[in-house]
Amino acid sequence: MTAITLPRKQHHLTPLDATQLDSWQALVAHRKDLRHFTMRQAFAEDPKRFDRFSLSACGLFLDFSKNLIREDTLDLLVKLAQEAQLGDAIDAMFRGDAINASERRPVLHTALRRPVADKVLVDGRDVMPSVHRVLLQMTELVGDVHNGLRRGYTDRPITDVVNIGIGGSFLGPQLVGEALLPFAQKGVCCHYLANIDGSEFRELVGRLSAETTLFIVSSKTFSTLETLKNAQAARAWYLARGGSEQELHRHFIAVSNNKEAAVAFGMREENILPMWDWVGGRYSLWSAIGLPVAMSIGISNFKELLSGAYGMDQHFKAAPFQRNIPVLLALLGVWYGDFWGAKSHAILPYDHYLRNITDHLQQLDMESNGKSVRQDGTPVTAGTGPVIWGGVGCNGQHAYHQLLHQGTHLIPADFIVPVSSYNPLADHHQWLFANCLSQSQALMVGKSRGEVEAELRAQGLLEEEVQRLAAHKVIPGNRPSNTLVMERISPRTLGALIAMYEHKVYAQSVLWGINAFDQWGVELGKELGKGVYSRLVGSEQLPAEDGSTQGLIEFFRGRHRG
Ligand code: F6P
Repeated sequence: MTAITLPRKQHHLTPLDATQLDSWQALVAHRKDLRHFTMRQAFAEDPKRFDRFSLSACGLFLDFSKNLIREDTLDLLVKLAQEAQLGDAIDAMFRGDAINASERRPVLHTALRRPVADKVLVDGRDVMPSVHRVLLQMTELVGDVHNGLRRGYTDRPITDVVNIGIGGSFLGPQLVGEALLPFAQKGVCCHYLANIDGSEFRELVGRLSAETTLFIVSSKTFSTLETLKNAQAARAWYLARGGSEQELHRHFIAVSNNKEAAVAFGMREENILPMWDWVGGRYSLWSAIGLPVAMSIGISNFKELLSGAYGMDQHFKAAPFQRNIPVLLALLGVWYGDFWGAKSHAILPYDHYLRNITDHLQQLDMESNGKSVRQDGTPVTAGTGPVIWGGVGCNGQHAYHQLLHQGTHLIPADFIVPVSSYNPLADHHQWLFANCLSQSQALMVGKSRGEVEAELRAQGLLEEEVQRLAAHKVIPGNRPSNTLVMERISPRTLGALIAMYEHKVYAQSVLWGINAFDQWGVELGKELGKGVYSRLVGSEQLPAEDGSTQGLIEFFRGRHRG
C-alpha cells in the first residue's frame, strides 16, 4: 500500500501582492520625489546622518547612511514590510511552518543553532535532541581526528580531510573553513573537491597521501552527479594506493539525508552523519555539512559559529524593523531593485579570509530568490533576486570598480571589512581599510564637471585640453552602498554575518511572495545532461533535440575519434 503524506501546515500559500499595498504605491511616488536627491547634499544638510543610519548588532556594525534614502524613505519601507506581514512570515519560519510550499517542507536551519533545551516541532516531534545528537557525533569524530585516534589503513593518523561536495555542500563550508584559518587546529588540513573536472581531482590528490586522507562525502541527496563521480574517483584512488575495501571505513564518511544511497556506496552506517529535509543545501553549513569546518577549527569554535548565527536569529526575530539589520538590508535591496531598476548587487569583502563570501552569497541569494512565480504559482508582480557578484578588495578596484563608478548601471554594493587584521604587516591593514572606505566614498561623492574642470585648470592645462578631458573624468556619484564592519573575523561574527544574509534573503522572498527554499530551475540542465552524455559516449544514436547541441556533440565526437 502506498503511504499518503499529509500536507504540512503551510504559510502564505497565497502570498500578498506587495505591489498592491498602499506603502508600495507610496514608494512609487516617493521615488519620483527623490529624483533630485543626492547623498552628498543630504550629508551636508544633516550632520547626524551617519548616526541616524547606522546600527550595531551581534558584533556587526552597519553603516547604511550612503544610501538613496531619507528618514521618510525608511518609514515607507518599514511600512511595506509591515503591510506585507513580514513579522508573521518570520514567526512562521522559526515555528516550522511549511514555508517551502512547493516541497511542502518547513525551513529550520535556525534549529541547528538553537540551544538543546529549546523545542522545535516538525510533524509533532521535537527535532532538537537529534540536532544535538549529531553535534555530539561531530564532536567525537573531530576529537578522534585531532587526537590522532582516527587512523588510516596503515595505522598512520589522519592528516588531511577532503570534503567532496558541491553547491551548498561545498560553498558554505569552504567559506567558513577558509575564513577561519586563523583558528585552525594544527595537524589537520582541509581541502575541497567540488567540480566533476578531472583536473581538479588530479591537482588535489597529487598533494595527498591515501594513507592519511579522510574523505567526507557531503551530499544531502547523495544523488548529485559531480559528488558521486568524485567520491568514486576518490575510492578508486585510495584502492590503487594500497587501501583495501575492508579498511575503506577508515577513510570514507558521509553526511547525507539519504542513508540508503550512502550505504549502497559502501559507507558504514556509523560513518553516516544525518541531515534533514528541513535544511536546504545552501543553508546547511550549520549541520554536519559543516564537518570539514569543525575538523579545521575544532568543535568549540564551530559552536561559537553557531552561537553567532543564533544571536542573529534572535535579532532578526525581535528587533523592530527600523533597527533590524537583515530586514533593513532586504528593504534596501527591494528599494533599488524594484524602484530604481538595479539588476545586480556587489559583495565586496576587504579581507583575504572572506574571499569566498561572494561565491557563497551567490548561491544563497540567486538560488533562493532567482524565481519568477510566487508561492501560489502565479507570476511575480515585481522584479526578484538580483545578480550577486563581486570579489575581494582591493583587487576589484583594479578590475571592475570602473564600471561601478562610471558605468550606466546602478549597482548597490556591500563593503565588508574587519577593523583588525590577523596578520598586521607594516601599515597594510590601514591601507586596506582606507581603500574600502574611500571606494564607498567615491561611489557616493563622485566628481562633478565643475570640480573636474577646476582640477584640470589647477594643473595648468590649456582650456581646450580641459574641455577635451572633462567629460571623461566626471564621476556621477550618488551610488549607494552599505558598509559592514566587524572588530575581527571570528567564528561568532562570521556566524552572525552569514545568518544576516540568510535572513535578508528570506525577508526579500516574503516581500516578493516567492519561495526562497526550492530550486526547480536547476533540474532541467541535470536531466538534459544525461541525454547529452549518452550521445557523447555513443550509447544514444538519436540526434539531440536541437541543431546547436547536436553540432557540438559531433564536434566533440569528431575530435575524440581522431
Ligand atoms: O543542483 C543544486 C543543488 O541541489 C543545490 O541546491 C545543492 O546545494 C547542491 O545541488 C548539492 O546538493 P547535494 O547536497 O544533495 O549533493
